[in-house]
Amino acid sequence: MVVGIGRAHAKAILLGEHTVVHGTPAIAFPLPALPVRALARPAEPGTGSQVPADGHFRFTVGGTDTALSGPRVAAEEALRRWGITDTTVEVVVECGIPLARGLGSSAACAGAAVRAVADLHGLVVESGELYDLVQCGEQVAHGRASGIDASAVLANGPIRFHQGRAEPMPIGLDAALVIADTGVPGSTQHAVAGVRRRLDEDPVRAGSLLERASGLIEAAGDELSAGAAESLGKTMLDFQELLAELGVSTPHIDALVTAALGAGAHGAKLTGAGLGGCVLALTEPASAPGVSAALRRAGAVRTWTVPTRAMHAGA
Ligand code: MEV
Repeated sequence: MVVGIGRAHAKAILLGEHTVVHGTPAIAFPLPALPVRALARPAEPGTGSQVPADGHFRFTVGGTDTALSGPRVAAEEALRRWGITDTTVEVVVECGIPLARGLGSSAACAGAAVRAVADLHGLVVESGELYDLVQCGEQVAHGRASGIDASAVLANGPIRFHQGRAEPMPIGLDAALVIADTGVPGSTQHAVAGVRRRLDEDPVRAGSLLERASGLIEAAGDELSAGAAESLGKTMLDFQELLAELGVSTPHIDALVTAALGAGAHGAKLTGAGLGGCVLALTEPASAPGVSAALRRAGAVRTWTVPTRAMHAGA
């Protein structure tokens, strides 16, 4: 049988989550160690949607399936744009990214699904169109998404994202990032709505907070390219403070940040939407095992270590 295969991967936001929805830049990098694979094939009659279990799920496009999941909507929109109307396609997604942890699972599943459907039809999707299609899915999954997740899960290396455009971000840093899963699912839609409410309540304070955020993101970009790990760690902590002011940190996240610092990390902060999800710590490579162990002792259910030199999808 003819099948199409598509892939994408997780992402982590270094700095700029939430404020990016309100116009600041943000910096993110791909996590190729957490991949998504999708397979597309002509559907057997009677195949329908199946909710995710162990990261695996299936759906059909081009038929009668109307399940409102981001990946299905993105793939359905792809068929519509490409004028493919005479077929029902089954898409099976194997998602190696923990769901609802701020690591871009919904965008990565949508990206892999669209690539698989394109591959089945012998099409190569140009990156701008792929981004647009993943964004169609993200609007369903998260409401008004900035596009940083859609960009980073398809990127081959670190990116600076600003107002719908992603540029490669130069990295001169020899350090490690330890990502710790709080084990608590966080709703991006809920977190984004909460931040919007806070900003709307006090426009003057909102303006100065977003200005502060932009300054920190610019500083982080310079520190990343100059390899200034210690000052980047401080910038991450300042951004974490700002995210706490926006109401998206939790006592559990704060405890993990404290544990990482206690084990020698240069800095730590939540990554993604918060209210659960994951914490990201910056450390010297030699200190990474100690930082991971401290994060697990403080309640992280799992950790991943990414050397900054391996922040490329091909690495
Ligand atoms: C979620 O990974 C990042 C947020 O900034 C939402 C968005 O940018 O769409 C919280």
